[in-house]
Amino acid sequence: MSETIQSLLHEERSFEPSAEFKAQANANDPAIYDEAYHNPTKWWEGWANQLDWFEKWHTAMEFDAPNAKWFLGGKLNAAYNCVDRHAEGDRANKPAIIFEGEPGDTKTLTYKEVKDQVSQIANALKSMGVQKGDRVCIYLPMVPELPMTMLACARIGAAHTVVFGGFSADSVRERANDASCKVIVTADGGWRRGNVVQLKKITDEALDMGCPTVESVLVLERTGEATGTVTYKQGRDFKWSETVTTQSTDCPCEPMDAEDLLFILYTSGSTGKPKGITHTTGGYLTGVYATSKLIFDLKEDDIHFCTADCGWITGHSYITYGPMANGATVLIYEGAPDTPDKDRFWRIIEKHRATILYTAPTAIRTFMKWGLEYPGRCDLSSLRLLGSVGEPINPEAWIWYHQNIGMGKCPVVDTWWQTETGAIMISPLPGITSTKPGSATHPFPGVRIKVLDEHGNGVDVAGPGATNTPKGGFLVMDHPWPSMTRGIFNDPERYEKTYWSRFPDSYFAGDGIKLDEDGYLWLLGRVDDIMLVAGHNISTMEVESALVDHPAVAEAAVIGKTHDVKGQAIAAFVILRAGYLPSDALTAEIKAHVGKKIGPVARPDDVYISAELPKTRSGKIMRRLLRDIAEGRALGDVSTLADSSVVASLKDRYEASEG
Ligand code: WTA
Repeated sequence: MSETIQSLLHEERSFEPSAEFKAQANANDPAIYDEAYHNPTKWWEGWANQLDWFEKWHTAMEFDAPNAKWFLGGKLNAAYNCVDRHAEGDRANKPAIIFEGEPGDTKTLTYKEVKDQVSQIANALKSMGVQKGDRVCIYLPMVPELPMTMLACARIGAAHTVVFGGFSADSVRERANDASCKVIVTADGGWRRGNVVQLKKITDEALDMGCPTVESVLVLERTGEATGTVTYKQGRDFKWSETVTTQSTDCPCEPMDAEDLLFILYTSGSTGKPKGITHTTGGYLTGVYATSKLIFDLKEDDIHFCTADCGWITGHSYITYGPMANGATVLIYEGAPDTPDKDRFWRIIEKHRATILYTAPTAIRTFMKWGLEYPGRCDLSSLRLLGSVGEPINPEAWIWYHQNIGMGKCPVVDTWWQTETGAIMISPLPGITSTKPGSATHPFPGVRIKVLDEHGNGVDVAGPGATNTPKGGFLVMDHPWPSMTRGIFNDPERYEKTYWSRFPDSYFAGDGIKLDEDGYLWLLGRVDDIMLVAGHNISTMEVESALVDHPAVAEAAVIGKTHDVKGQAIAAFVILRAGYLPSDALTAEIKAHVGKKIGPVARPDDVYISAELPKTRSGKIMRRLLRDIAEGRALGDVSTLADSSVVASLKDRYEASEG
């Protein structure tokens, strides 16, 4: 990448927090930014102090790049902090988890009930031989037993590795083996679009391929008769109804060192085997506790609806650990957003009176495509805050979300972070920050962000109101934060090489970023996706945002395609909103719209209208595959795709249109 990434898209709109929101917000004093900036360690210690410790730390932080340790010598337990401390007193009968299954079944569990069930699961795991320091693989649908099993592991000091319930037998095997798991916790099945996903059968396939460390399998009976035949292997497989519900509800919380492993979560690297991202107990919990409280403004009567699955980091940090460390009520949903109809999320919000919604831009753009009819049917007046995560949110999607879901009154927090960062790093604070659609705004207090060019020169991003020099470049952190990963499980070399080798003693996140003249940060996507067109670095994200700004376009993916003269030429794949039909005139109009919006250099050479885009299972567009298609190459690895038929049919249609 050359020296700077140009900033092309200009956004003039700005939204102030309302006086009413500000007055009640958990954070409404901008002075916290300065305070945290000047003494981040002290700031984080203040948050760690709000957790319950069995023994206090003697040293707040130690850093020898790339290795950081926080709260050394401190002892605590994550399950104690997320469950036990709320299970007595005022919160004992407060709902901890409200669950809605895809078929429409619902269940509410109070903190007291969660404590009893987590203890029973923990005792069941112990009865299967799980001890402090062991690893447990969790392969469950999005039912309450998923977060509760995570907490049960934490309770007894076993690290969990959750494998998303949509992953294959091979993924389960690979992860269970890399983490040398002793037990797999799964279900007979889970519901997805009216069908049963055969989790136990897939687990059996994984075990048949070889999982030498797995001794036992615990099976939740979720789908029952609808599953069909489920086989149980004598001595290895145990039914939940016979193994968990019979246990005592008494199970002490293991005192864990602040730096003890809490979990491993695998991220699919673009090449090679998945990376086991590790997180430890004290620092991670401090980070997710603080960010949940300030960014989601969690209050005693909030109903926090995060639509992520616990198979992703978002489900770890902002369903299980962050909100529950705050004693909040979390709302979880098992199934698809269009089952039985495309209004399912809105029905859930209406029914359970959700106050906070945290979802992804890919979902928001899908709702835009489906049209206003669906949210329009439901009463969304309970909502008071909206969040976005996973990808840059295009300004048009931000505005749509704000107007049609938040009814113009809910602050929108666009939160940038990664599996590796554990907790949110860049985000507005809803009672302080004036937001600009498409900008994740400022580093969270206590987080130091740098924008560097390829030579490592750049700026240290200060908080709101500080004087900042505009700059485009690489997103880098050179100061540790408590919830940062402690590395890749069993592979310190790969950790160093992947994240710490681009800039000396600094963590490189892999994302492009720009700082504008008002000190706002704009995420530009993965640097591997940034295009070089006739000597200009252009972010795919900015061109996509200009495309989505056209009234006919619901979703867009942009790539740079090899070009003899320009180096790269821009090709766009777009999905139309309901009610628009493809035509040459429309394609020409869309191209012209981008040219007008951000300048002729960004005008796509080609626009392909498509019904689908290739996405990973967590909803990120796989631009690498689109590049393969556009350049007529054989398709690369498609194993992490949510639906591999999408690429094949795109490729066929692309080749037909190229003639
Ligand atoms: C992208 C998800 C722009 C980014 C929590 C990052 C974002 C990667 C945002 C991590 C955002 C996430 N704006 N980009 N608000 N949030 N990303 O590990 O490229 O699944 O590096 O963690 O998602 O994805 P991961």
